[in-house]
Amino acid sequence: MGDFYWGVVQSAFQFEMGDPYRRNIDARTDWWRWVRDPFNIKNDLVSGDLPEDGINNYELYEIDHRLAKDLGLNAYQLTIEWSRIFPCPTFGVEAEVDRDSYGLIKRIKIKKETLEELDGLASRSEVAHYRAVLKNLKKLGFSTFVTLNHQTLPLWLHDPIEVRSNPDGARARGWIDEKSIVEFVKFSAYIAWKFSDLVDFWATFDEPMVTVELGYLAPYVGWPPGILSPSAAKRVIINQMVAHARAYDAIKEFSKAPVGIILNIIPAYPLNPRDEWDVKAAENYDYFHNRLFLNALNDGRVDLELNWEEVKINHLARNDWIGNNYYTREVVKWVEPKFKELPMVSFVGAEGYGYSGNPMGVSPDNNPTSDFGWEVYPKGIYDSTMIAAEYGKPVYITENGIADSKDILRPRYIVSHVRELFRAIENGADVRGYFHWALTDNYEWAMGFKIRFGLYEVDLITKERIPRRKSVETYRKIVTEGLGYENDSG
Ligand code: BGC
Repeated sequence: MGDFYWGVVQSAFQFEMGDPYRRNIDARTDWWRWVRDPFNIKNDLVSGDLPEDGINNYELYEIDHRLAKDLGLNAYQLTIEWSRIFPCPTFGVEAEVDRDSYGLIKRIKIKKETLEELDGLASRSEVAHYRAVLKNLKKLGFSTFVTLNHQTLPLWLHDPIEVRSNPDGARARGWIDEKSIVEFVKFSAYIAWKFSDLVDFWATFDEPMVTVELGYLAPYVGWPPGILSPSAAKRVIINQMVAHARAYDAIKEFSKAPVGIILNIIPAYPLNPRDEWDVKAAENYDYFHNRLFLNALNDGRVDLELNWEEVKINHLARNDWIGNNYYTREVVKWVEPKFKELPMVSFVGAEGYGYSGNPMGVSPDNNPTSDFGWEVYPKGIYDSTMIAAEYGKPVYITENGIADSKDILRPRYIVSHVRELFRAIENGADVRGYFHWALTDNYEWAMGFKIRFGLYEVDLITKERIPRRKSVETYRKIVTEGLGYENDSG
């Protein structure tokens, strides 16, 4: 395990804000607007907690890096927030676009002048901030993994409240609108140009299917823009795929570091394995949630119409590594396809299992559930890693963790999941790293602060990092001594 990457992972919106004097607020994301929208708060779509009361990693990053170092970690994953770098639109910066016979963008030309113009628009202080953060990580000997998009979009590109009230007419329509691809590629090129000396691994997206499923197919879960629109979902899928591939090309112009994508690969199991319809439901779940992106970006097999008919589009086959975020499984049963435009969405999570459990309870299979209600299912990390491994690229577990404020389940969760991960490695999966979500507590999107994922608890008044000792020790020992240590200590 000599060169295995052990790390922790954070995203920008969920960790950065929270300095007591409100100095480092970023009020320019879609999520910023979303979580304070009165309709959302009144209808319990969001918690009412606000990110500016949060963790303050923006100012306390040196403390957090030190904590990670003391755990014995050698890798750190973070997001550079697009809206911080470009608080105002970049539309005016020229970039030439070529299309293929399907009308998809196959090339975006980023010239030296493009970068110089972008440099004029970028926030100097935010560029300096992220340089300082990355430099500090390097000084401490970490390998750096940088994600370019972890759910949030600049408000100038996506106004979720406007989209909800007028999906077709809204001005800033996020991933529904193809122009987001071009802007994302400008941002990616700029970041690679500015930071390639400090970044060891790039990821374009974190969990693009979550954006689709929660944002466009489940308006009751509190994810922007919170509309029910299968046709928008389809466009968001294809646009994110193209954005990944074109960002890949752009990053490669300025950086030698591998470029990957982070997916949450969820193994799905039929509720009744002897019922052929439930079996079909699990296959459809796997295809829709896991394979669309994996097939397209690794093999160039693209289901453009979302009807299982894949066409070969080589310019989308761009990927050096697969990031896999694993928390729990899905157990599904068959339902008639919910949307005619998406015939493969013919499943529903069976109550009590996977993501459909009750907080702090047990699943029908007697597995404990987290504060979030998610079932603890270690074998799932094995199965999801084996899915990723089929594509022949190096795999990194880019997130794994549990919401457990009292730290009752977490120590065993970590050990059992790492053990299953190592079993996958023994069985041939090329897994090269494991990142825990998360070093500290975080702002859990629509759920706010009540869901606690941290190895370190954060006191939201003083911002003090307080170890959840059992988990801190467990992770530290795994990292420094290997899994065998628990056998010695009984
Ligand atoms: C997301 C994180 C989130 C975590 C726990 C992951 O899927 O990438 O942003 O906090 O799940 O819900």
